Amino acid sequence: MLIKDILKTAPADSSMEIKGWVRTRRDAKGFSFIEINDGSCRLNLQVVAQSGMKNFDSLVLKLTTGCAVRFTGKLTSSPAKGQEVEFLADDLEVYGWAPAESYPLQKKRHSFEFLRDINHLRPRTNSIAAVMRIRSSLAMAVHLFFHEQSFIQIHTPVITTSDCEGAGEMFTVTTLDPLAKVSKPPYSADFFGRQAGLTVSGQLEAEAYALALGRVYTFGPTFRAENSNTSRHLAEFWMIEPEMAFFDLQMSIDLAEDFLKYLVNHALDNCQEDLELFEKFVDKNLRTRLETVITDKFARVSYSEAIEILNASGQTFAYPVAWGTDLQSEHERFLTEVVFKKPTVVTNYPASIKPFYMRLNEDENTVAAMDVLLPSIGEIIGGSQREDRYEVLENRMTEHGVDLDDYQWYLDLRRYGSAPHAGFGLGFERLVQFITGMANIRDVIAFPRTPGRA
Ligand code: 4AD
Ligand code: MG
Repeated sequence: MLIKDILKTAPADSSMEIKGWVRTRRDAKGFSFIEINDGSCRLNLQVVAQSGMKNFDSLVLKLTTGCAVRFTGKLTSSPAKGQEVEFLADDLEVYGWAPAESYPLQKKRHSFEFLRDINHLRPRTNSIAAVMRIRSSLAMAVHLFFHEQSFIQIHTPVITTSDCEGAGEMFTVTTLDPLAKVSKPPYSADFFGRQAGLTVSGQLEAEAYALALGRVYTFGPTFRAENSNTSRHLAEFWMIEPEMAFFDLQMSIDLAEDFLKYLVNHALDNCQEDLELFEKFVDKNLRTRLETVITDKFARVSYSEAIEILNASGQTFAYPVAWGTDLQSEHERFLTEVVFKKPTVVTNYPASIKPFYMRLNEDENTVAAMDVLLPSIGEIIGGSQREDRYEVLENRMTEHGVDLDDYQWYLDLRRYGSAPHAGFGLGFERLVQFITGMANIRDVIAFPRTPGRA
């Protein structure tokens, strides 16, 4: 039985076995108390081993942190304060020892930096295990939300030839000899007959399906070879991208707000025990921060208004604020943490700093873009209404230096049965960061990939 179920249903006095890893052992006269965790929940089950039980001297007294074990025995109501049941052992089998001289995890708390050097062992700590349970629960909530709203999930390709964001941050996928010294790789002789790479976004492919199935979403791994060594960037991250036919920018913003509220509510309702750990050890204001997402309507401000607010604030920023330059993380956080003190949606950015696919506004200077900013995180969602007018799109692509031959399929979507549509992308790790309060994005994904590290 899983410890999670034992603690919940607690059928006292029943005989059973439990399997898990030793967290601690404490000896008393004639007893040993062993805390066992099996990963199913944050709480440990306390095993009481009496000196008379089988294998007490030969095994129990040799247990150390990290050993994998199976205890047989029976559950009893505990006389100790703060726990309802404990496990009275009658026998022990040790599956795997963890010699204390070399096992890197000890009883004490380790820094997250230290744990990043042992990514394969860190899930055995309370905090990383709790992050992963919350992450898993949120992934399920993503699917529930879209299912309830009649969205259809599309598995967009991981290998693609479209650089959606046009930022030149694609990793190339090739079977060509990497050691061949050539100035221009002969991609026509490559596996796909042309240059291909790992996707930076499933959006363009999702658009093709939205313009057939109406409401679709993708939820998959995304790769960016951007050299950003920050606490908010990964080279491999997971993104959720809904794409909706017959939606304009406002409808898309409303959906994004509902989506974030749903996910935060889900965490508060389903991950309470794990959230308590982060509230206690990582961020004392966690609950208040999460509650502002649910209770308040998100602030909405245009990019031009945001620039005015930032300029009038009297605040000095490392990056200067000027119309036509992108908002930096410090500006985003100032808007959401100091000015509005709640989630903030910034709309209608200058066309010149946004990708080719965003719909040009009537002023011909700005596009129907939106970013959702969260306190302590900054940008969590980026999206837009898409350019659905053939000529305008073709012009925008030419301006952006996009090779039209490569994107005829994308232009076809405007040639035949084009319709207004919109969508957005939510960075899944940034969501998990926001919900747990974890400071570094590398600690909310199992095996982080960042510049210089895979
Ligand atoms: O703003 P981005 O670049 O938008 C797109 O990719 C659109 N094609 C989405 C769409 O409209 N379908 O990325 C979306 C989100 C960001 O707001 C951020 O949360 C996350 O993806 N993100 C990253 N997360 C971790 N590491 C990185 N390097 C990230 N880059 C973007
Ligand atoms: Mg963005």
